[in-house]
Amino acid sequence: MPPNLRPRVRVLAVTVVAAALAVAAVIFVLRPSNTPADDAAARSVAIGGPFSLTTQNGTPLSDADLKGRPFAIFFGFTHCPEVCPTTLWELSEALKALGPDARDLAVLFVSLDPARDTPEALKSYIASFDGRIIGLTGGEADVATLAKAYRVYWQKVPGEGGDYTLDHTTAVYLMDRTGGFSGLISYEEAADTRIAKLRALAAKS
Ligand code: NI
Repeated sequence: MPPNLRPRVRVLAVTVVAAALAVAAVIFVLRPSNTPADDAAARSVAIGGPFSLTTQNGTPLSDADLKGRPFAIFFGFTHCPEVCPTTLWELSEALKALGPDARDLAVLFVSLDPARDTPEALKSYIASFDGRIIGLTGGEADVATLAKAYRVYWQKVPGEGGDYTLDHTTAVYLMDRTGGFSGLISYEEAADTRIAKLRALAAKS
């Protein structure tokens, strides 16, 4: 296939994987369970998990720091040619559209490429987007543990001259104030839907 089609195909493949994972997660969350406690436990373990990472400013940030705040979390890498910059731009536009409704909402961009995405690299990259977006990086193992907790798919793809790129899940995960999984924004979802989902997440008690 022509080289210019390959990123599109990859985006499609990763989107399909993300959609399948989302369906699996929803089935898991909605599965019949015996007690309300089981149900709550299932919801709390289905997607998401604790983390302790470093922001683009070199300061530590953990899930405990976000306690009581809803957040949108997205996994990618700064060398990403298309999906990450598009998504971060769309999230920036959504934050602007939400105005004061975005007050409590945290937006996190976690690097799946911490070897290259140092806090300094993240900082200069993130500067192109809304100043409220928090970039996160850390040790390879810490990042991998968090990505797995979110059922994120990612795969290193060798490029030319020893370079590499990453295929990765393109969805944005929406987490409510209790840290529970609340839904997804999929790649290329309509702006209105994207904004409505974020507004609903921010308003959810
Ligand atoms: Ni990307």
